[in-house]
Amino acid sequence: MDLTHRPRRLRQDGVRGLVSETSLEPTDLIAPVFVDATADERVAIESMPGHERVPLEEAVSRVEEVLETGVEAVMLFGIPESKDADGSRAWAEDGVIQEATRRITAETDAYVVTDVCLCEYTEHGHCGTLEDGLDSHDAEPTTTVDNDATLESLERIAISHAEAGADMVAPSGMMDGMVGAIRSALDREGYEHVPIMSYAAKYESAFYGPFRDAADGAPAFGNRRHYQMDPANAREAMREVRLDAEQGADVLMVKPALPYLDIVRDLRREFDHPVAAYNVSGEYAMLHAAAEKGWLDLEAVALESLLSIKRAGADLILTYFAEDVATRL
Ligand code: PBG
Repeated sequence: MDLTHRPRRLRQDGVRGLVSETSLEPTDLIAPVFVDATADERVAIESMPGHERVPLEEAVSRVEEVLETGVEAVMLFGIPESKDADGSRAWAEDGVIQEATRRITAETDAYVVTDVCLCEYTEHGHCGTLEDGLDSHDAEPTTTVDNDATLESLERIAISHAEAGADMVAPSGMMDGMVGAIRSALDREGYEHVPIMSYAAKYESAFYGPFRDAADGAPAFGNRRHYQMDPANAREAMREVRLDAEQGADVLMVKPALPYLDIVRDLRREFDHPVAAYNVSGEYAMLHAAAEKGWLDLEAVALESLLSIKRAGADLILTYFAEDVATRL
């Protein structure tokens, strides 16, 4: 055969690495960590094998385990000792995240990112204060969360996290104006150096199922489609993200990751900001479940998944595979 082009030439060992277009480093990854104020020992999260809710006393040792793998950043999620209608334990000075953040930043070099949201702290499980007249007994309300009242709560949460020493805050509630409100609150309080990673395009996804068990944050009624995005929409994601960018978001996140790689790619092309992708609990759980049945090679599919997310254009990835993959890189 007289073939001028033989792409196979560059697939041979020795040259593969030289021509590889994408690389994955432990420092690209953020490991989610669950701190549980109600626990007095570590509790395994059944639907997320290898992950645990740890008591406050173990927050530091849990983060040290992450650091040992080469991953340098953690995302903290909290399970509070009590919940109320407004989620007030989310901004308490002695709240679970505030306390964990103080300990972790005092005793480790981890870069601490905190999730700024209310769903784990409200008794109804929604991401903010409910509109007047709604309570946990309403079966199917058409609207749920009072956007502007919730912004005040989000400001308080972000300030309390920054006061505790958080390196970065990550609002995930999909409230309109949340990035701007948090940016001006942080600046007003002297935390202009604390960056905001916005869950800018967060979809109303069934892939969050295992997380809602892990963090005890499932809505008690209704659903989140009044604030999280419709999986059918891509142009709307660009509009959402543009608003967050205008309001001062430093890092723009897409969530989930694998079913939304087109959105990751669109963001990469449209914006100069660092792009983050959240490889969520369901993406993790399904690979584990298939591997448990012997149908997939877990190590291989985990690595391939993260590589795909980077190839699509993400600079950083939040993933429950962080430690496993980092150890093998
Ligand atoms: C909201 C929040 C959620 C996740 C991260 N932050 C849950 C939700 O919107 O239901 C999901 C993460 C995952 O599934 O891994 N605080």
